Amino acid sequence: MELDIARDAELSDCNTMRVQARTGALVRIHSTEQLRALSERWVGDFDPGTVRLLGQGSNSIPCDWPGAVVQLRLGGIEVLDEGERLVRVRIGAGEDWPSLVRTALERGWYGLENLAMIPGSVGAAPVQNIGAYGVELSDRLAAVEVFDWSDRTRRLIPADELQLGYRTSRLRGAQGVWVLAIHLDLLRCPDVVTDYPSLLEELERRSGGGSAARPTPEAVFEAVCALRGRKLPDWRRHPNAGSFFHNPEVDRAEAERLAAAFPDLPRWPVPEGWRVPAGWLLERCGWRGRRSGPLEFWRDHALTLVNHGGAASSSEIIEFARQAMDAVQKTFGLALTVEPMLWEAERLNLKRPQTQ
Ligand code: EPU
Repeated sequence: MELDIARDAELSDCNTMRVQARTGALVRIHSTEQLRALSERWVGDFDPGTVRLLGQGSNSIPCDWPGAVVQLRLGGIEVLDEGERLVRVRIGAGEDWPSLVRTALERGWYGLENLAMIPGSVGAAPVQNIGAYGVELSDRLAAVEVFDWSDRTRRLIPADELQLGYRTSRLRGAQGVWVLAIHLDLLRCPDVVTDYPSLLEELERRSGGGSAARPTPEAVFEAVCALRGRKLPDWRRHPNAGSFFHNPEVDRAEAERLAAAFPDLPRWPVPEGWRVPAGWLLERCGWRGRRSGPLEFWRDHALTLVNHGGAASSSEIIEFARQAMDAVQKTFGLALTVEPMLWEAERLNLKRPQTQ
């Protein structure tokens, strides 16, 4: 079985922020036969520390990677089971997330509409437990199919064993566990989630404010697309990796201190305390629209870091992000954490894997 391997490959076309970086070998896997061929080639020689998995690169900041980078292009959307209330669907890791949301809606499988237009591949979705406008993938995820390099077997992991949390899961640090497909439980009857404040506002605006009827999933989908289109830069024109920082969580005492000092700080309760929006914190520090070379904390939404072109590298991005983090720390006493995966943190001590 022929493997699709490009030696000494450029990665800027493989990530949505167009970060410049090179890898020793870019391996694209289009079928389970190719995955088997790769596992046979790497018999006894697979070191998870030297291999990075990349979906569409919409949540990764790559750096030069002397080992190998693997893209899983396994496709397919298939119904596994259909009950009265739910339909269980299996989706290959290489499918495009935004297209899946659209397809699901067209087929009358509901529950993904709030997650419209999130760039990326299906396989990456459970790794960071994607979420938007009041819904997280964990609300719909039943299980993931993985290939585990520790024993070279395929396994099905139920969602409740994945430690899914806010933009995180057990899969996030597990380099030798590759998601091959996900299983979702989707709704056969609409049951929309509309309590996210800006979504509710958009729906009311669109219905003229007078309609008492519950919005349809299609209306929620359209409203989410309109909101994202207005606020968030499209990575095809303004390369970016989505939200660059997590929204920090603070305990009750900290929330009270902040609310006293900044009465207009938006915040919402979470089980352990409160979450506050990093975009608001950055804007308040004067970082909305701030530029350094090709980089800009987006003029319409400070939480997105845009690369306007040129040779933005991982180190330049980290340096600029660090300055923003320092500003937030100084003004609010809060530590921001970077949301996309920073490869630079894991580059040390690599050895080249055997790819031929
Ligand atoms: N805000 C500002 N200034 C800004 C940006 C935001 O004041 O420059 C304020 C907004 O006015 C609002 C609050 O911050 O009061 C929250 O903003 P928004 O609703 O746009 O959401 P977010 O917290 O910035 C999060 C997710 C997004 C997701 C949206 C909608 C994280 C890290 N980000 O952003 O997810 O689309 O909510 O649910 O949780 C992503 O993870 O990459 C991502 C885009």
